[in-house]
Amino acid sequence: MENKAAFLNCTGTSLAIQHAPFPRPEAHEVLIRNHAIAINPVDYKIQDTGVLVRKWPYVLGEDIAGEVIEVGSAVTSLQKGDRVAAFAINIVTQNQANAGFQLYTTTPASMAVRIPDSVDFTDAVVLPLGLATATGALFSREYLGIAPPQASLPVPTGSKDKVILIWGGSSSVGSCAVQLCAAAGLTVLTTSSTKNYVYAKDIGAAETFDYNDDEVVDKLVKATRGKEVVGAYDAISSEASLAACVNFLYAVGGGKLSLTLAGTKLPDMPESVKAVAGRPPLQGPDGGEPIWRQVWKDFLETGLQNGKLKAKPDAHILKGGLERLQEGLDLVRKGVSAKKIVVDLAE
Ligand SMILES: NC(=O)c1ccc[n+]([C@@H]2O[C@H](COP(=O)([O-])OP(=O)(O)OC[C@H]3O[C@@H](n4cnc5c(N)ncnc54)[C@H](OP(=O)(O)O)[C@@H]3O)[C@@H](O)[C@H]2O)c1
Repeated sequence: MENKAAFLNCTGTSLAIQHAPFPRPEAHEVLIRNHAIAINPVDYKIQDTGVLVRKWPYVLGEDIAGEVIEVGSAVTSLQKGDRVAAFAINIVTQNQANAGFQLYTTTPASMAVRIPDSVDFTDAVVLPLGLATATGALFSREYLGIAPPQASLPVPTGSKDKVILIWGGSSSVGSCAVQLCAAAGLTVLTTSSTKNYVYAKDIGAAETFDYNDDEVVDKLVKATRGKEVVGAYDAISSEASLAACVNFLYAVGGGKLSLTLAGTKLPDMPESVKAVAGRPPLQGPDGGEPIWRQVWKDFLETGLQNGKLKAKPDAHILKGGLERLQEGLDLVRKGVSAKKIVVDLAE
């Protein structure tokens, strides 16, 4: 068996497909033979600016799906032969073996989740980073602190009187947030282009509003119908979307705003609105806090099995292996709409 990776040799260069060391799992890790790789905005941002890279050459990629071919000595949750979707965490560890844009990847077992036989690798791979990011932003106590969903139980009905705004429901992260909040029983208001209203409804939004509409904030406020607003999650975090979310929360009496990007300039903040920047709860090789395990692992695994969680947004598949990754990056950089660019590694 030999490994190949798509190397980014320095900022602004195209990916170069070359032989790479064959990764071996540490005690708490699994080794995955990748079948599908999804591409995220952070990948082209790294390619364009070198942000987050501490060592060159760098290998990109956070979302992978494939087969476990070896488990570390301390791993009990997964076994050889398991079909998994996983979060590749080179972005955190700066360890090339943990990167996604290669044929074989090692990742902590806590970052990998079994997927049902009925779900293709190219579908499951759209979820890990989006779901992990939304999990941190919505359910961690220091962010919105919402009670998380349980895929094995019926959707709770007691929370329908509680409303959450998810700004950007057709984005990858926003889609995961909409699905998670709907499964938690909340009434979800979201924003997208008008062409994605049906999509947003399909993943659980109660009502969707056009983010290009000058009156979008007023319409969102009206749509709360005086119900309790438990907070807002801005899954886009542009200056315009942050301003709109702040105005929304101010108009409904204040509350917490969770952001998907920490770096964007915040508008003048009224005292009643508190902004918190979310990130995936990744601490510790065991998967960090219980929320992470409960939502990310249990909900992803059970939810995909019983249909509570859909592999959304839909994959736009590029067949042909690692060689298609650069084209995929270029597509994401240009902008996608309710789609995830996925490279299929199948021969
Ligand atoms: N902090 C973290 O750990 C973390 C993790 C993942 C992502 N992120 C960041 O989060 C952002 C989103 O990532 P992603 O992968 O979810 O993006 P994505 O799927 O590539 O985003 C594309 C979608 O964004 C929607 N959109 C664009 N501008 C919008 C606006 N002003 N209001 C509402 N929706 C808008 C588009 O909607 P329409 O097509 O309907 O117009 C489109 O469906 C990126 O900046 C990414 O780098 C951060």
